[in-house]
Amino acid sequence: MRTHLCADVSIEDIGKEITLCGWCNSYRDHGGVIFIDLRDKSGLIQLVSDPKENDSIQIAKEVRDEFVLIAKGLVRARAKGLENPKIKTGHIEVLLQALHIENHALTLPIRDENVNEELRLKYRFLDLRHQKSFNIFHTRSKVTIAARNILDKMGFLEVETPILTKATPEGARDYLVPSRLHEGEFYALPQSPQLFKQLLMIAGFEKYFQIAKCFRDEDSRSDRQPEFTQIDVEMSFCTQEDIINVCEKLLHGIFKACNREIPQSFPRITYQEAMEKYGSDKPDIRFEMPLQEVKECFLDSNNEIFSSIALQSKNRIKALKVSGGDNFYTRKTLAELETFVRKFGAQGLAYLQFKDNEIKGPILKFITPSSLEKLKEILQPKVGDLVFFGAGAKNVVWDYMGRLRLKIAQDMQLFNPKDMRFLWVLDFPMFEYADDGSVSASHHPFTMPKNLDASDIEEISSISYDIVLNGIELGGGSIRIHQEHIQSKVFEILGISKEEAENKFGFLLDALRYGAPPHGGFAIGLDRLIMIMTNTQSIRDVIAFPKMQKAICPLTGAPSAVSQEQLQELHIHIKH
Ligand code: AMO
Repeated sequence: MRTHLCADVSIEDIGKEITLCGWCNSYRDHGGVIFIDLRDKSGLIQLVSDPKENDSIQIAKEVRDEFVLIAKGLVRARAKGLENPKIKTGHIEVLLQALHIENHALTLPIRDENVNEELRLKYRFLDLRHQKSFNIFHTRSKVTIAARNILDKMGFLEVETPILTKATPEGARDYLVPSRLHEGEFYALPQSPQLFKQLLMIAGFEKYFQIAKCFRDEDSRSDRQPEFTQIDVEMSFCTQEDIINVCEKLLHGIFKACNREIPQSFPRITYQEAMEKYGSDKPDIRFEMPLQEVKECFLDSNNEIFSSIALQSKNRIKALKVSGGDNFYTRKTLAELETFVRKFGAQGLAYLQFKDNEIKGPILKFITPSSLEKLKEILQPKVGDLVFFGAGAKNVVWDYMGRLRLKIAQDMQLFNPKDMRFLWVLDFPMFEYADDGSVSASHHPFTMPKNLDASDIEEISSISYDIVLNGIELGGGSIRIHQEHIQSKVFEILGISKEEAENKFGFLLDALRYGAPPHGGFAIGLDRLIMIMTNTQSIRDVIAFPKMQKAICPLTGAPSAVSQEQLQELHIHIKH
């Protein structure tokens, strides 16, 4: 229908007759001359209907916001002084020769982003009309296509795996689909294609990928949706190093396809180091500000709590030096920081202020002069610095001191939000204890352990790796177990009986008996990647039709009740 997209028209087209299609973004009647800003996916252009020139004015007068228009006209330069430098086509306009109203529009229930999210998502098709949304989905499309091309070039085969399947082992709650043909039985939607991609390796495909939909029934967060997409990869006869190389090449190529430069390879840190240094398994390294272990400075403390904490090997006393922090934080904001860490299990927040010629702080009286010297040696503080201390069980201290580190960096704007800092976190523990004392797999139970014979199961690590970008877990993966005896041992540690393992993952265990090659892979959260690339704060912005809190879709009304007949067919009886 059109000869040009709105924003593609330029001063070079002056004098040309063109046809444009789109929506009325706004209109103004200036004493009988009507100006319409026409919008399509490319942007805006100004249409002018001048009664002195022709009779398009009759129709132009009827135009209202969001009407769908087909406009024919002559490109001309705008009058001097009337240019609009804010838009790409601000130096030109189109003098209308003919205007057709293709469709009317009701008054929009949402005009801008400042309306509540439920309303925005109810009218998501209008919300998506904003240029900002189009740009996000443009990036998303470019990234997905680039991922396909890059992996194809590297010899990976794209294979689709089932959506109606059996429960997979990522550790979240499953979405279940009742079977009509098998009374009382259910399919589960996949939490990831994990088991199928392993089966494809056993099938000998060697290099697989998929842009895969995954479903996890867990609470939504700003970077979590019940339904999301992974770039999912698996390969055979490979080492961790081979997989890391593929992932780095993939990410480098993806950014390049979007005209952005990132390093060819990323720094690495072990899980243990990450926890000790940053108090997080997904450290944000756009700024340094490490946690430092200062237990040795409290061994001789006259405060029993500190000295006894310092004695235990599973405890930590961490110091966080904030350069210039004493000039930044006030008594009031320091109290706010304390309230903040208390939410994450801290008993309080001790600190030292390094003032001109003196050191102040409630914790000072608990540190002996010789230990204070040792502390200064470790921290090298300068006047104006503030040092926070966290003491207690290592998991708790890591967690709240890690969060404090992030909060302070945000408060003091210690990093450039546009920086892209990737980091590999390696060697995750294989198992973890839940609060009730039960053991679960830190990654998933098919991850290859490194030292399965260690006496303390918390000491067993795995050949696994996460890729972290700006403090967000972007992806993760592992080398898998391909030998049945190791798999059985892991199930045993996890307290999964032979019957339960057979029942849940029998098909995979069976397949492992038929010549399974060594294999491993990874998955990148596509939505999270787009979030970071487009600098958006919410994962919902990068998903065309996302779910809100409580997993509802305000647009379709899902989830919703179904008819009695449907329930009967599915052998379901709802108890009210
Ligand atoms: P994992 O569970 O770590 O690994 O998931 C991989 C990546 O998927 C993204 N992700 C999510 N994104 C949005 N909403 C969610 N609810 C959500 N959950 C996960 C994250 C995460 O890093 N099968 C393994 C991968 C493998 O071992 O190959 C897996 O799914 O970015």
